[in-house]
Amino acid sequence: MKALILAGGKGTRLRPITYSLAKQLVPVANKPVIEYGIDAIVAAGITDIGIIVIEPNSPIEESCGDGSRWGARFTYIVQPDPLGLAHAVMTARPFLGDDDFIMYLGDNLIKSSLRDLVDEFEENRPAATVLLTPVDNPSQFGVAEMENDKVVRLEEKPKEPRSNLALVGVYLFDRVIHDVIDQLKPSRRGEYEITEAIQGLIDRQMTVRSHIVTGWWKDTGTVEAMLEANRLILEDVVTAQNGTVTDSQVDGRVSIGKGAVIQNSTVRGPAIIGDGCTIVNSYVGPFSAIDKNTKISDSELEHCIVLQDCEISGVARLDGCLIGRGAKVKRVQQKPATMRLVLGDSSEVTLP
Ligand code: DAU
Repeated sequence: MKALILAGGKGTRLRPITYSLAKQLVPVANKPVIEYGIDAIVAAGITDIGIIVIEPNSPIEESCGDGSRWGARFTYIVQPDPLGLAHAVMTARPFLGDDDFIMYLGDNLIKSSLRDLVDEFEENRPAATVLLTPVDNPSQFGVAEMENDKVVRLEEKPKEPRSNLALVGVYLFDRVIHDVIDQLKPSRRGEYEITEAIQGLIDRQMTVRSHIVTGWWKDTGTVEAMLEANRLILEDVVTAQNGTVTDSQVDGRVSIGKGAVIQNSTVRGPAIIGDGCTIVNSYVGPFSAIDKNTKISDSELEHCIVLQDCEISGVARLDGCLIGRGAKVKRVQQKPATMRLVLGDSSEVTLP
């Protein structure tokens, strides 16, 4: 079996971060989202992996490399226009050939292992296996209608959902899916929808199996979902101490990276402090992920994702923030005491 990871698309809901960083590279607990998917695929024994990207030599390729880090082989497949998930499969056809494949949306995070799914697929040989999970906002997803444990109908982002079971971004297919995709027309929103292709399998009386996801699942497409994914991953963070801690209190599970300095501060886990960070006279609270070489002084924050090379100084208290690479948030003593903001397009600032 091969794998196809979809890491094209535009990431509009995560702007401005995604103006300069692909959404699949935004870190959750200091690790790019896409790497969780790669880990899960490789752990399921699949090493021949195609990755859909928007351009040649993309930052995703630069970041993930040729796969040798995972003992795998990556083939990058360029899909310049994000015309839909089924279009991505169409674009990847020369790579996929007639092999079975698992398709993994590069902005999804799923806790369950994929190994059993792959084994079950290979044993039963359905045309497709889909993963489902109950959600509060089904109209933002593909939605499945069931009859006695059987998927009878799938609809992409329906205005009036017929169930609360959302399609999770992990699918298994055999080669028949290509025949359906070849006959697909663009949807109302102008995309070639994988949801419609799977409906096509059902219409042709092919077997589509479904699994309800029991562990958690996150589509990290929005800031809120990103913070929630960060919280869920940090629930399992393992304590590590590779830095220097002086006159400080470190409570609970905190992973401290190489060369990090924590001075006269309180860090309360679960949290992760990346390599080379400096935390001085500050409080870093639960569910914070501070990426490498960020400096925090005289500040308080919790439940935040702060990317690398940031400077936060004299600010209390940040909560629920996603701060992009190299951003500076500083309080200065000046008259008049005005606010000076230099914000990227589509930035959002919430003041008390
Ligand atoms: O997250 C689960 C949902 O994912 C499912 O419930 C929906 O049925 C499915 O259509 C999909 O919906 P999204 O609106 O969340 O898909 P999105 O456009 O965010 O794309 C998902 C991933 O695929 C993302 O990593 C970008 C990539 N992508 C997307 C498109 C449209 C591509 O690589 N190429 C594309 O053409």
